[in-house]
Amino acid sequence: MDYSGKVVVITGASSGIGRESAVKFAKLHASVVLVSRNKDKLEQVAKELSEYRSEVLVCVCDVSQKDQVAQMSKQVLEKFGTVDILVNNAGFGIYGNFNDVKIEETESQMSTNYLGMTYCTKAFLPKMMEQKSGHIVNVASVAASFGIPAMSGYCASKFAMLGFSESLYHELKGSGVGITVVSPIMVRTGFFDNDSFDKMPKYTAALSAATVARAVVKAASSPRLEIVTPQVVRIAIWFKQTLPYLINPIVGGIFRRSKAKT
Ligand SMILES: NC(=O)c1ccc[n+]([C@@H]2O[C@H](COP(=O)([O-])OP(=O)(O)OC[C@H]3O[C@@H](n4cnc5c(N)ncnc54)[C@H](OP(=O)(O)O)[C@@H]3O)[C@@H](O)[C@H]2O)c1
Repeated sequence: MDYSGKVVVITGASSGIGRESAVKFAKLHASVVLVSRNKDKLEQVAKELSEYRSEVLVCVCDVSQKDQVAQMSKQVLEKFGTVDILVNNAGFGIYGNFNDVKIEETESQMSTNYLGMTYCTKAFLPKMMEQKSGHIVNVASVAASFGIPAMSGYCASKFAMLGFSESLYHELKGSGVGITVVSPIMVRTGFFDNDSFDKMPKYTAALSAATVARAVVKAASSPRLEIVTPQVVRIAIWFKQTLPYLINPIVGGIFRRSKAKT
């Protein structure tokens, strides 16, 4: 797909997967809108993108705040008059048993990861529908398919994201607008810098943000509902969905054993 001149809005573009996705789209000469709460970090990313033939707009916006999202989309549509790709990537996780985490922590994950995605989609979808073209890429997680112990708030937000996307996938058929979920697992980013992850069993975060960003670019023109990365994990999801009574106790046992070691 030729992304030259396409307008790509990326939330959570100040670091990790969002930042790498911005680099990939800029290298393809798309116009890139960088969205997150941290102006300094966004401007640093914008500076790095200046070496590519790409127009860059920095938008400071907390996606969990509906009014800020409305303001951000207004700014984007006023500047470019269009939007071609929306990458809903902003998100975070908190590690801890539900009984131990604050209810506000569960709420905030839902507000950013799920509601933030719906606010951005609501803000840009009308323009895509009007122009009969566009693509929404939702960065969910393999945690959208497995209820991981000590990540209930995060898993709930990502299950919600996948369910929302599946509904929209059917609604959008034939409209010219597409939607694809990218579901990665264990990526080396700032995601695990949150103090709560100190208590998490140490797994090797195997994927680079650049690998996931490649999947994001692929997703932006894909007819598929979900792209799992790495692809091999799709097999585990298939087993879990096909044989839940067999697989759930195995997965639960693996997590409990590794948790007991910490
Ligand atoms: N790392 C993994 O192992 C992994 C695995 C599966 C899925 N994911 C998903 O991948 C996405 C990107 O995460 P990452 O791994 O790249 O982590 P990251 O490096 O921590 O990046 C998270 C990004 O989200 C932004 N953000 C957080 N809350 C926000 C808010 N309320 N409004 C606007 N922006 C917000 C952050 O920017 P500011 O702080 O500047 O606002 C940052 O740019 C997340 O949705 C995450 O759930 C990650």
